[in-house]
Amino acid sequence: MAKILASITCVGGYVPEDKLTNLDLEKLVDTNDEWITSRTGIKERRILKGEGLGTSDMAVKAVQQIFDKKGIDPLEIELLICATTTPDFTFPATANVITDKLGMKNAWGYDVSAACSGFLYALTTAAQFIETGKYKKVIVVGGDKMSSILNFEDRATCIIFGDGCGAVLLEPNHEGLGLIDSILKSDGAGRAFLHQKAGGSVKPATVETVLNREHYVYQEGQTVFKFAVKNMAEVAYDIMQRNGLSEEDVTWLVPHQANKRIIDATRERMGLPEEKVMVNIQRYGNTTNGTLPLCLWEWESQLKKGDNIILAAFGGGFTWGATYLKWAY
Ligand code: UT7
Repeated sequence: MAKILASITCVGGYVPEDKLTNLDLEKLVDTNDEWITSRTGIKERRILKGEGLGTSDMAVKAVQQIFDKKGIDPLEIELLICATTTPDFTFPATANVITDKLGMKNAWGYDVSAACSGFLYALTTAAQFIETGKYKKVIVVGGDKMSSILNFEDRATCIIFGDGCGAVLLEPNHEGLGLIDSILKSDGAGRAFLHQKAGGSVKPATVETVLNREHYVYQEGQTVFKFAVKNMAEVAYDIMQRNGLSEEDVTWLVPHQANKRIIDATRERMGLPEEKVMVNIQRYGNTTNGTLPLCLWEWESQLKKGDNIILAAFGGGFTWGATYLKWAY
């Protein structure tokens, strides 16, 4: 019997309606559209507004789309893995909230924390459950409400991130279509350069941590940039080599949308022309765990059965990786 591969069979996505443009940011911090555009490629990002709304609320919209498009009953889902850096709560897992809100009573689930590489970590993990033959329908969610941990007085970080969420359905495939290979990496020594200082068990929230603004994203941008450029490009190139793929063989690169310059460096290392690269950073900024599934969501109608797709990411931790998949529909 042919090996079972885990294939993506549907994509859902959601971005909030409210836009925060570079011109809006000019009114909040000492920055300008020209600087942001030339250094990052970002023009605007989406912000989830509304009391009591969190990452799960965007995820619910993305997953509901999958149910509607595929005509699936929520009770058919066996497992949901949610990759997020901005969970609704420290505990329980956001996956639990999503499955409850959508009535997925037969599913269990958990969260994966790997910053911007979270979707790749979760996708690769979820694929194992399909490949063993144990499960038939698994959902992987990637999303963040980054605006909930941004300091809108820090021009170095608040201009980069945005809110959004994507989701994919994984099902077994017997035709050799689906996830073929992944290279996943981490280096905890990089944690010093991109993290949230307080709110965990090392430094629980106090009045002082709030006053010191230690619950916001802290990033040493230049250092992260150097590691990201090198590692995301290398890992994307490595997965091509390991699978004997030439630049002609690769149909699409789906890169993490952190900085257009990092995307360009990865594309160049892989030898790909611009038209093979999914880029929506100009409209959404860096949605952290949301970038990869939101690209798949926006490009879904252009994808064809058998397309060779490489996803690549780099994020806090440090974490990074690349996944090679053959599109199944
Ligand atoms: O997704 C997770 C992983 N994260 C990333 O991959 C992000 C990686 N880092 C980056 O993308 C870039 O480092 C940033 C976009 C964050 C910053 O760009 P940069 O080209 O590395 O700028 P920089 O930090 O070296 O700053 C250059 C100058 C500084 O001024 P001086 O010291 O040269 O006078 C900054 O103070 O630009 C200044 N600056 C700004 N100016 C206008 C920093 N932020 C801004 C701003 N507007 N928003």
